[in-house]
Amino acid sequence: MSVLATAGPAEVEAREAPAAKRENRRKPMKRIIAIIQPCKLEAVETALIKAGVSGFNMTEVMGFGHQTEPAETCLWSKARVKFVPKTKVEVVVPDNMADQIVEAIAGSARTGQVGDGKIFVASINGAMRIRTGDRDEAAL
Ligand SMILES: Nc1ncnc2c1ncn2[C@@H]1O[C@H](COP(=O)(O)OP(=O)(O)OP(=O)(O)O)[C@@H](O)[C@H]1O
Ligand SMILES: [Mg+2]
Repeated sequence: MSVLATAGPAEVEAREAPAAKRENRRKPMKRIIAIIQPCKLEAVETALIKAGVSGFNMTEVMGFGHQTEPAETCLWSKARVKFVPKTKVEVVVPDNMADQIVEAIAGSARTGQVGDGKIFVASINGAMRIRTGDRDEAAL
């Protein structure tokens, strides 16, 4: 016999309400961090807006990854890392948009040459729109 069959409406509500409330408060979101070629920023911006994102950030960064260039060695520091200019685009989206946004960024940033960049996806636990106090997805 199912557990639910023996539980009255009040007991069922008591068991399910906390989870439902948690669900409402904490809609899962994703933070997508794309390291792209600086010359691809405009194409990525256009793709993000077309995909319906409500906002995003960009930062000019210096990156280090698999290098094709020879490393420069500073005589005084023995530093062997050669950084290259990259652009970091960050966007927080509802969980169910994340795959589509990753594809939109990849599609607009790809040249097929080395150095096209990488995309990382992280979970976001909460958000607030400061002016209104809206939370989570409603804050995006
Ligand atoms: N583990 C990492 N964490 C954060 N950023 C990273 C990481 N690895 C690489 N990056 C960033 O990605 C950039 C490398 O991009 P790049 O497209 O050159 O990657 P790749 O793996 O060498 O691929 P490709 O062969 O296409 O060049 C770095 O300059 C750095 O900004
Ligand atoms: Mg590379």
